[in-house]
Amino acid sequence: MTLAELEIEKAKSLQEIADATDAAAVESLRVKYVGRNGSIPALIKGMKDVPPAERPAFGKAIQAWKAEVEAALAGKGAGASTEKAVEADLTIPGRWFHLGAKHPLSRVIEETARIFGHLGFTVADGPELETRFNNFTALNTPPHHPSQDRTDTFWFNDDCLLRTQTSPVQIRTMLANRPPIRVICPGRTFRRDTTDATHSANFHQIEGLYVDTKPVSLADLKSVLAYFAQEMMGSGVKVRFRPHFFPFTEPSVEVDFSCHVCKGKGCRVCKDSGWIEVAGAGMVDPRVFGFVGYDPAQVSGYAFGFGVERIAMIKYGIPDIRWLYENDVRFLEQLA
Ligand code: DAH
Repeated sequence: MTLAELEIEKAKSLQEIADATDAAAVESLRVKYVGRNGSIPALIKGMKDVPPAERPAFGKAIQAWKAEVEAALAGKGAGASTEKAVEADLTIPGRWFHLGAKHPLSRVIEETARIFGHLGFTVADGPELETRFNNFTALNTPPHHPSQDRTDTFWFNDDCLLRTQTSPVQIRTMLANRPPIRVICPGRTFRRDTTDATHSANFHQIEGLYVDTKPVSLADLKSVLAYFAQEMMGSGVKVRFRPHFFPFTEPSVEVDFSCHVCKGKGCRVCKDSGWIEVAGAGMVDPRVFGFVGYDPAQVSGYAFGFGVERIAMIKYGIPDIRWLYENDVRFLEQLA
């Protein structure tokens, strides 16, 4: 073959590759030109018969042809190139597959549902957009109460607001069911708050409600919360009640857990008090039963409400509430 003939063959081969329309055609052209018995290896083998003076030019032309054919085949996605890469290096690491993990708030909510599930509680749900009746009136919260103020609550109109607490799900649940009732209600809540390390205008709560025709007491509430504290924070964690006021419970308490870090001795997490405030709670006020059509002489019950962020922050040692919302994988991965 002369140099001129080689150029003609080369042009022909490149045209054939360009015209190939499917993988099978590309593969057969690969075999035809650069396969073990292909025409280019045959020419290389035949180099010894080329007159020595012409060899350098001829050799260069063949190598150029081979390179162009291989590039054209690779451009057509010929499988040959991957096979070669694999043959070349079997130690190339596989592709890293990122599985991800549950968000700490979801973990606290799911764990709480699991713990209360053991005690016979089911999960109830309610909307984030609520009525004044469910969020305030039926919870015995009068119109002049500061929480109803326009500066504390996101109102859409006189009757419609973003719920400020999960407590309205108590009302929805009691209106739709008869005692005995045992529910927890996790969900988003909204208040007009300036965001800082411990405040956010949007946060989460888990409400709890137990109503029965058998007498229910504050001791029942305390034992249930003590069980929850141990399951959630670790064995040995104790529960303390402090007197407080909520319009929808009487008596009302604030609930503290003994500090799970220092076991109550006093440390940075509990600000040296040995206790961490986690919830509001109390015995359902008879007036609330009146609003949902229950006879307060026939039923009694307790209710409680936790801040989900608060539990997540003390459980996982998160110092800033904003980290929970920033979607920074460097933070989220640490809790995986
Ligand atoms: N809803 C109250 C709040 O957001 C928390 C609360 C207190 C819920 C007492 C309750 C309760 O169910 O009994 O501050």
